[in-house]
Amino acid sequence: MPDEAATLRLGAALAAGAANGLALHLKGELGSGKTTLARGLIQALGHPGRVKSPTYTLVEPYGLLRLNLYHFDFYRFKDRSEWLSSGLREHFNPESFCIVEWPERAGDLLAAPDLEIHLRYEALGRTATPAAHSVPGAIWLATALSRWRSS
Ligand SMILES: Nc1ncnc2c1ncn2[C@@H]1O[C@H](COP(=O)(O)OP(=O)(O)OP(=O)(O)O)[C@@H](O)[C@H]1O
Ligand SMILES: [Mg+2]
Repeated sequence: MPDEAATLRLGAALAAGAANGLALHLKGELGSGKTTLARGLIQALGHPGRVKSPTYTLVEPYGLLRLNLYHFDFYRFKDRSEWLSSGLREHFNPESFCIVEWPERAGDLLAAPDLEIHLRYEALGRTATPAAHSVPGAIWLATALSRWRSS
């Protein structure tokens, strides 16, 4: 992905198969483009306003037309016990669609996501490496990749 617009397009391509009950983990170093990808996805789902980083709030909720979307950022968790005491676990349920930046900060207490995308710096731009961890995740990824190729 050569520039920010390409990361936004990948996010938008993921909007088609997004559904309540699915979870997306976004991994990668500071500044690798996780929030940018989430912004592309959330705006493609119809959110008209800003998509701000949940770094300080831990979670930003979006009530969208067909989804209860929660955008998390666990960067500030020092260890996985903070995830337990945060009270955020209840948001992960079949009626919500969850996007998580820095999921590794919750350790193995967080269930494997349906889809995971690892963003990495390149000389110019970024690369995105996806991995599906469930059948719905694999279907979602296939839908997104065909959208991405034709976008
Ligand atoms: N494909 C890309 N090529 C070049 N720059 C990009 C690309 N995608 C995003 N960026 C830029 O990278 C910067 C950091 O992006 P972003 O805030 O999304 O990172 P992040 O992974 O969420 O960081 P953090 O770990 O702090 O939450 C932004 O300025 C954004 O425009
Ligand atoms: Mg971010």
